Amino acid sequence: MTFRAIPKAELHTHLEGCAPPSFIKGLAAEKKIDISKIFAPDGGYAFRDFDHFLQVYEAACTTLQNPEDFRRLTMAVLEETASHGVVYMETFVSPDFCGGGDLSAWRDYLAAMEDAALEAEEKLGITLKGIVTGIRHFGPDASKPAARCAAETKGSFITGYGMAGGEMVGRPGDYAYSFDMAREAGLRLTCHAGEWGGPDMVADTIRDLGVERIGHGISAADDPALMAEIAEKEIVLEVCPGSNVVLKAVGGWASHPIAKLRDAGVKVTVSTDDPPFFHTTMTAEYDMLHKTFGWDVDDFTALNNTALAAAFCDDKTRARVAKRLE
Ligand code: HPA
Ligand code: ZN
Repeated sequence: MTFRAIPKAELHTHLEGCAPPSFIKGLAAEKKIDISKIFAPDGGYAFRDFDHFLQVYEAACTTLQNPEDFRRLTMAVLEETASHGVVYMETFVSPDFCGGGDLSAWRDYLAAMEDAALEAEEKLGITLKGIVTGIRHFGPDASKPAARCAAETKGSFITGYGMAGGEMVGRPGDYAYSFDMAREAGLRLTCHAGEWGGPDMVADTIRDLGVERIGHGISAADDPALMAEIAEKEIVLEVCPGSNVVLKAVGGWASHPIAKLRDAGVKVTVSTDDPPFFHTTMTAEYDMLHKTFGWDVDDFTALNNTALAAAFCDDKTRARVAKRLE
């Protein structure tokens, strides 16, 4: 089998960020929302840098307003993702961006996503789990309702709590209340860190929030002692190289630290983050890792096995997905 054809698992996607521009344009037209300024003349999303990306992302989210929107989005995303051989996917959903964090609305949105996920599992052989996500740059207090939402909707679909967004507000420990609430509810934990922040952000996130995975975490490569600690604690990095290249968190593919992290014994996985925003797919990520670092079937198989072992699913699901990854 060639590396492109192998069955894949990805842990780090944002459901809203997987929405194709055409999908968001359709919803905007239906609801008479004018967000034309977020699109480039070629029809894609238009953003200059990470801050602007977050603004464009938030504007796109305003079109997602009812359970049917989320059901259709989930189905469209799973069809596209499955077409790249992905058999297991985890996705972040952000109550702060859609529906104003209203918990009663979110119960219905999540139920609609789960319905679509079950239908897609049956039809397409892809399993989806959801991670309710707070938005870090809204600040520590604003992250609490999302954690409450996660705790109250924990079940067969929502299995984790996380935090996305910019790393510029406060220190990781300021968000401990939300992570503690989610942990007490039995949720698995991950947090974006070290995408923009330095190794200290990654170290503090591990120490103060008790997460078992880190979203991105690439700045850890600047600190050998931290890489050794992450390897020793078996914390898994959800690395999204194509996202890092497009948002300029790294200088380019050749200088991306994923190979350095892996060679230091850090458990790495590969994901697409927000594919239509970054013009990527899992196939494209594999192509670039093959071209840049010479990674091939054995390397990608190892990434997928790491992802499945770190997946926020129950053991029965893990065993079912393991068969698909064989
Ligand atoms: N980084 C931080 N927050 C995000 C991202 C990202 O790449 N995508 C969606 N929210
Ligand atoms: Zn992300």
